[in-house]
Amino acid sequence: MDAVVVFESMWGNTAAIARAIAAGLGGDAVALTTDAATPAVIEASRLVVAGAPVHALNLPTEATRESASAKRQGEHGLAADVTHPPMREWLEGLPRGPRKYAAYETRIRGPLGHGAARAIARHFLDLGYTELEEPRGFTVALTTRSSDPAALLLPGQEEEARRWGAHLRAVLDRVAAAPSAGA
Ligand SMILES: Cc1cc2nc3c(=O)[nH]c(=O)nc-3n(C[C@H](O)[C@H](O)[C@H](O)COP(=O)(O)O)c2cc1C
Repeated sequence: MDAVVVFESMWGNTAAIARAIAAGLGGDAVALTTDAATPAVIEASRLVVAGAPVHALNLPTEATRESASAKRQGEHGLAADVTHPPMREWLEGLPRGPRKYAAYETRIRGPLGHGAARAIARHFLDLGYTELEEPRGFTVALTTRSSDPAALLLPGQEEEARRWGAHLRAVLDRVAAAPSAGA
């Protein structure tokens, strides 16, 4: 596959956005958990998109994941999924570029809603990747009564993500067609 979307997600919101981005990218793009996105998968990709929820203004840590594990979402108590490695750990094991990247985050609306996507971007840049597009945020509600996965996403966010995925594909194709197409 030439494009892969990798995600960390407690209650399925960042995962649903990843699937929507992959659908927008089209072709054989897929959304993968951090354990499924092995170095071999990354090495075969031209574009790597990575996303995580904002926890305490940054990428989730062991402490914030523990705090999430203690929480239940909605009336039926959906538990947080902490079975996959944290995005931080996945980024540490990432093969070096050159390769294109894009980063996104899910966050609540307001001044506390930033930090994860830029942290992801810094890791990619340190590893010699090139930014395809600016980091992007998708918005969730603080709470929901529903216990369905991805129920925190505000209306229209998955559609936005699909559009962003299609936009990323268009930019990727344009870069590949340019005479000086490099990494
Ligand atoms: C421990 C913890 C800390 C959080 N801190 C922030 C924060 O600083 N800013 C923010 O916008 N959202 C914060 N959130 C809300 C998350 O961004 C939200 O739960 C996440 O986007 C849901 O996506 P997921 O289901 O993929 O995990 C926090 C959530 C948890 C569990």
